[in-house]
Formats: sequence, structure tokens, C-alpha cells
Amino acid sequence: MDIEKIIKSGVLSQEAYPAEELPYRIKLDANENPYPLSPSLKRLIFERLESVSLNRYPAPGSPGLKAAFSRYYGVDEEMVLIGNGSDELIQILMTAVGASSPCSILFPTPTFAMYGISGLNAGHRTVGVPLSDELDLDTEAMCAAIADLQPSLIFLSYPNNPTGRCFDRGGIERILEASSGLVVVDEAYCNFSGKTFLHDLDRWDNLVILRTLSKVGLAALRLGILIGHPSLVHQLNKVRLPYNVNIFSQIVGGLFVEHSEKFLESADRIIADRKWLSDELMSIEGITPYPSDANFILFGCVTGKDEVYAQLIDRGVLIKDFTSPAILRECMRVTVGTTEENREFIETLKDIL
Ligand SMILES: Cc1ncc(COP(=O)(O)O)c(C=O)c1O
Repeated sequence: MDIEKIIKSGVLSQEAYPAEELPYRIKLDANENPYPLSPSLKRLIFERLESVSLNRYPAPGSPGLKAAFSRYYGVDEEMVLIGNGSDELIQILMTAVGASSPCSILFPTPTFAMYGISGLNAGHRTVGVPLSDELDLDTEAMCAAIADLQPSLIFLSYPNNPTGRCFDRGGIERILEASSGLVVVDEAYCNFSGKTFLHDLDRWDNLVILRTLSKVGLAALRLGILIGHPSLVHQLNKVRLPYNVNIFSQIVGGLFVEHSEKFLESADRIIADRKWLSDELMSIEGITPYPSDANFILFGCVTGKDEVYAQLIDRGVLIKDFTSPAILRECMRVTVGTTEENREFIETLKDIL
């Protein structure tokens, strides 16, 4: 068998997502929420789970959850699609688009890796438009690429992972105006930015919003929510696997909507700790934190970055290192952890430097 004659070139050209985890004491590499659920929320979950029929398939299309999230976001049920994490929703979008050939997928770079990975896996042409030197959206370059390529899908992480800031709203509006394809505003970190395009769905029928429960303390559930035009959601439902969301996640997702205030309590704490962490990073010579609207901070380390990263790992402090693209070569990204974890990270970093 000649596997290279069977598998798409976009798949062959990639490395598998790294599955191996480095050993750690403090895990600040994956933009997770550091706080476990309260005992009362855990009790509530276990009570609800008692009635689950594990011998039955979960409800296809997660109808209960779809209704709950449509009320929660104040949109029609026909506008909501529930996914196995927003990763799956990105993959569903990639699978569905492609009326034109070649089909282009556009996003600024650097950004969330799955836009590129999923696009290549689906056999699309993926095009990254570099951010400006200030790590801002280059709206002119984005609009020129839109005019040139007529992309079927544009992804904008808002705030952007890994750079941390929300792009300028006016720039995104220009992109929405300029594009005849779908513009996906990925609001994975909206609970830390307080900014959203959710109230703009009436203005653009090509606007699609992605949300996730992963950053509010429920990453293990794998629950993502897509909100978009009913005609789009209708088509995407044909691509969605029938039982894409397991019963456990459907039940806990429902509890999130019922008790969202409790689930979201940790966000305020993370926002306050982000400020502390950023101020501390700023005070260290040779370290330059970038402003952040998310639950992580990108920072530059002008000298010996590779050695600093290696020593952090040696001491059990796991953060995210970047070797590419060039603009991130001197950068690392740290997730805002618990107050104690942040303090320990800063002390370890100062000690290394
Ligand atoms: C911008 C962005 N979108 C989506 C995701 C993935 O979310 P989920 O866990 O719901 O698949 C991430 C994860 O880090 C992200 O940074």
C-alpha cells in the first residue's frame, strides 16, 4: 500500500496533535480554568446523573440543551448547534463548506491552531494573514485577501489566542461587510473580555458565533455552542454526527445554564488575578507582557527564552512555548492559574532569571 497515494496532502503535511504531556506540578499551559467545581455543584451533578439510562443513546442533536442555550443567549432554537467542544463545531463548518473550488479558509496569524489543522484536514486551502507588529488585526490585508480569495470561511478568535487581545470591533465589522462567506467570531474567552458579537446577529446573516464551556471550568465535558443563521444551522445539522454529545455532557450543560452565575464566579477572580500577574510580569527586567482580555497572558522574554522555558519545565511549571511564527519566537504564554499558582510561577520565573 502506498499511503501517500491514499491520504489527502493536507493531512500528510501535518504532525499529529501532541498527545504526550510533560510532568508538572503547576499546569498553566492550556488556558484551562484552574478552579474545581464547588462541592454543592458537584452534588447537584451527581443527583441528576442518578436517573441516566446508560443503555440508551443520548438524545440526537441535544434538544434540551439547545433549548436551554437558546434561552440563555436570547436567540431562536433554530440558530443553535451543540458540539463536542467548539473544536467539533469548527470541524463541522470545515466539512460543510466547499461549494466553490478551491475553497479558501482565512484567518489572521498567529491564532488558534485548530482553524489551520481542521481546514487542511478537510482539504481546503488555508491562508493566514499576519497580524501587525503590535499583534493587531491587519484589516487592510484581511480585506485584500477577502477580495482576492473570496474565502468560504473566516475565523476570528475574539479575544485572540495566543495574543490575548480582542481585535478592534470596527475592523471585524469591515470584514463582515467585505465577506460573502461566513465570518466566525470565536468567543471562547468572552467571559474574561466582556465583549461579544452576540447582539449583532441581526445585522449580518453571515456572522457565526462560537462559545465553549471549556474556559469556565468544564473543559472535560467537551461542550461547544454555535450560534448562526437558521439556514446555516439547518445545513450543519446534516454534517453533525447523530449522537455527538454524550448524555453526561448534555445533563451537566443543562445545569450550567440553570446555575450559570455560580459557574461563572471564578471568572471575576481570574480577571483580578490577570491584572496582578500582568503587573508582576511587567516589573521583571527582560519580560514584556502583552495586554490580555483572556485568561492567559502572552509575554516576550528577550534573552535566553529557551533556557528559561526548559528550567520552568524542570521545576514543574508548565506553560506554553512558541517556536513559530517568527513574531512569537521570543514569546511564551501563561494561563492565569489560582492565586497561589500565579505567585509560585512568578517566584520561579524571577528565580530562574
Ligand atoms: C480560540 C479557541 N477556540 C476554541 C477552543 C477550543 O474549545 P473547545 O474546548 O470547546 O473545543 C480553544 C481552546 O483553547 C480556543 O483557544
